[in-house]
Amino acid sequence: MSQNVKQAFLGSFFHTPIYGSFEYLEDALIEVDAAGVIARVVRKDDPAQAALINTYREAGVLTELGENRYGLPGFVDIHVHAPQWPQAALALDEPLYVWLEKCTFPLESKFADLDFADKVYRDLVNQLLARGSTTTVYLGSAHLESSILLAEICNAKGQRALVGKTVMDDPAANPPYYRDASVQSALADVQKHIDAVEAINRNSWAGVYPVVTPRFIPSCTDEVLKGMGDIAAKNDVYVQTHCNEGQWEHDVVLERFGKTDPYALRDFGLLREHAIMAHCPYLTPEEGEMFAELGVTIAHCPMANSYFSSAVAPIQRFRSQGIHVGLGTDISGGYSPSMYENIRQAVLVSRLLETGVNAMLPPDARGGLGEGTRLSVVEALWLATKGGGEALGLPVGSFQPGCDFDLQVVDVKRRDGDLTGFRVFDAPIDRLARILYLSSVDNVRKVYCNGKLLRDKDLEG
Ligand code: GUN
Ligand code: FE
Repeated sequence: MSQNVKQAFLGSFFHTPIYGSFEYLEDALIEVDAAGVIARVVRKDDPAQAALINTYREAGVLTELGENRYGLPGFVDIHVHAPQWPQAALALDEPLYVWLEKCTFPLESKFADLDFADKVYRDLVNQLLARGSTTTVYLGSAHLESSILLAEICNAKGQRALVGKTVMDDPAANPPYYRDASVQSALADVQKHIDAVEAINRNSWAGVYPVVTPRFIPSCTDEVLKGMGDIAAKNDVYVQTHCNEGQWEHDVVLERFGKTDPYALRDFGLLREHAIMAHCPYLTPEEGEMFAELGVTIAHCPMANSYFSSAVAPIQRFRSQGIHVGLGTDISGGYSPSMYENIRQAVLVSRLLETGVNAMLPPDARGGLGEGTRLSVVEALWLATKGGGEALGLPVGSFQPGCDFDLQVVDVKRRDGDLTGFRVFDAPIDRLARILYLSSVDNVRKVYCNGKLLRDKDLEG
């Protein structure tokens, strides 16, 4: 037994180390070191495997996934508004700016109350973990204290998290009861937030990172945007915001600056490597080239795009341009906390983008982008795992040596969730497709982040 190995996991695993294909590791042994990092994957045809299994079993460090169970990498959800959890599924018939004013801003303003924030954030992190999300990128509210609390809660629960304090300082664009008091106070809070989250990270197991988070250009003054770009550079931290989400945002920014959202964000210094730009369905090929050059990440949020964007983001084009792309639930522009649901929606909306949808027009006049547009469910899984890891520059999302061991164990034979398909079609791709399309929260039984068991529903009853 190698000195370094502290745990070993025996079972069958699916992952997508390379975009476009999946790997099925049947009866494989994954060795995990003391830091929660994958040391080695020993396949069943490796002559050393049997002896290793015995050694780990005798040492009491072997975990067997068990019959009818499969391991998938923990999900990487790269766009979640934590304070919007109580409004998930609400007011989605409204356009974005009405939804924000009517529902979102009144709700987010309540996170001045730390007891309320504590209750909501604990529940949200639990719900995300229960659905296999081991890495999450959060936007907090505009309050410094509750945004630090969110980072503390993620850290205490063991979830890897990137957390921002949302900035929205423009008095002309935000209600008086919910906005940053001034440019100076906003920028001071951003720096305090970075310092506080970096302090939490120094004692963190899975990692908690600060994110410079202007809500989006329409809610921020020029001074704050420029100041946040400077702070991001000085502290060398992540940035996140909404970009090119809809026609309204596109037009407002163009009118204000005489240039589009992506160029305006670039010129404020906000397009750094791994800066996370949510949505982007309106991103032109030229803007996409600029994103690829700068190493910017797009958070694809298919549900929110369906409600608020009047458009579908062309993910295959983004990928072929060399842009980092990950998947986000966008709670609560997307109603579901489940990355499974978002994988499904990513596939479905890509099919509509491929063909166009108005059947009263001839097929070639329906506005579809044609061949090469659709996402397969395997590609969508990559976006939700390995793609998210690459998008954030973190070694997560696959079962490869050197990656953090983030695992969700899916049971395909639950009483009310039988995903075996009677074994009529039982090739690895059939098993994987049923898991991705049909599983529910109950099928996800155990969740590990960085080698630590965070949820064990078998024990929870
Ligand atoms: N643009 C600015 N704020 C938001 C938000 O909270 N959700 C979404 N989807 N878009 C935004
Ligand atoms: Fe969003």
